[in-house]
Amino acid sequence: MSYSTLLTSLDNGIFTITINRPDKLNALNKDVFTDLDQAVEEIQNDPAIKSAIITGAGPKAFVAGADITEFNGLSKAAAMALAKRGQDIFFKIENCTKPIIAAVNGFALGGGCELAMACHFRIASDNAKFGQPEVNLGLLPGYGGTQRLTQLIGKGRAIELLISAAMIDAATALQYGLVNYVVPAGELLNKAIAVLSVINTKAPLAIAACIEAANAVFDETRNGYATEINAFGECFVTADMKEGTSAFLEKRKANFIGK
Ligand code: COA
Repeated sequence: MSYSTLLTSLDNGIFTITINRPDKLNALNKDVFTDLDQAVEEIQNDPAIKSAIITGAGPKAFVAGADITEFNGLSKAAAMALAKRGQDIFFKIENCTKPIIAAVNGFALGGGCELAMACHFRIASDNAKFGQPEVNLGLLPGYGGTQRLTQLIGKGRAIELLISAAMIDAATALQYGLVNYVVPAGELLNKAIAVLSVINTKAPLAIAACIEAANAVFDETRNGYATEINAFGECFVTADMKEGTSAFLEKRKANFIGK
C-alpha cells in the first residue's frame, strides 16, 4: 500500500514506517492518523511482515506531537473524539501481534512520546528528546500518555514530567527505562534492524502470546496470570512448539512457520 504521509519499506520481514512531514517535525495530523491506522492493519494482515519499526523523517524529530493547528476551535465533544481516535490507534499498535518498535530519532514530544510508548519498546538516537509538554498548552496528554508514562517509568517520575513539561534527553530516558538502547544517530535504524532480525527468528505465535500476556498486566478487564496459563496451553498445541522442542533435542536451528 502507499500512504500520503508515511514512507514504508519491507526488507527481510521488517516493515519500516517513516512518518514523513519533516517540515512540521512529523506532527500527527488527521492524515497521519488515518495512514498509521491503515499501516498497522497492513502489518497485522500481511504474512510477509514479521515485525515493524516506526521512525520519523529528517534529522530533527521522531514526532513533535499532535498537530497543534488542528486544535483550534474544537468543542469538548470534538476534543474527546480526537483523544479517543488517537487512543484507539495506539491501542491497535500496542495490541498488534507482531512486534512494533519505535526508533526515536529526535524530538518525541506530546503525541510523539505517546506514539513511541504505544510501541512494544523503544530505541533512541543519542540526540533524542522525550517529553509531554501539553501543560504548556493548557492540556494534558490525550493519547494514553498519562497511563503509559506512569506504567513505564513509575508514578513519581511520570507526574513530574507531566506537570513540569520538562524534556529529558536520551541518557535520562535510558536511565528511566523509557528506552532499551541509546545509539549514535547514524546507527539507529541498523540497531533496530539488528534487534528485530533476532526476534524474527523466534516462533511468531509465541511472540504474539508474550505481547498479549505482557499487555494483560495493564488491562484491568483481564487476569494476566490466567491469560498466561491459557496462552501457554495454546502454544503447546502448535506445530512451532513441536518444531522448537525437536530442534533443541536434535541440536539444530528451529525453522518456525507461525502455526
Ligand atoms: N504541531 C504543529 N506544528 C508543529 C508542531 C506541532 N506539534 N511542532 C512543530 N511544528 C512546526 C512548527 O510550527 C514549525 O512550522 P513552520 O516552519 O511552518 O513555522 C515547524 O514545525 C518547525 O518547528 P519549530 O518550532 O520552528 O522548530 P524548533 O527547532 O524551533 O523547535 C520544538 C522544536 C519541538 C521544541 C518545537 O517545535 C515545539 O515546541 N513543538 C511543539 C511541541 C508540543 O507542544 N507538542 C505537544 C503537542 S500536544
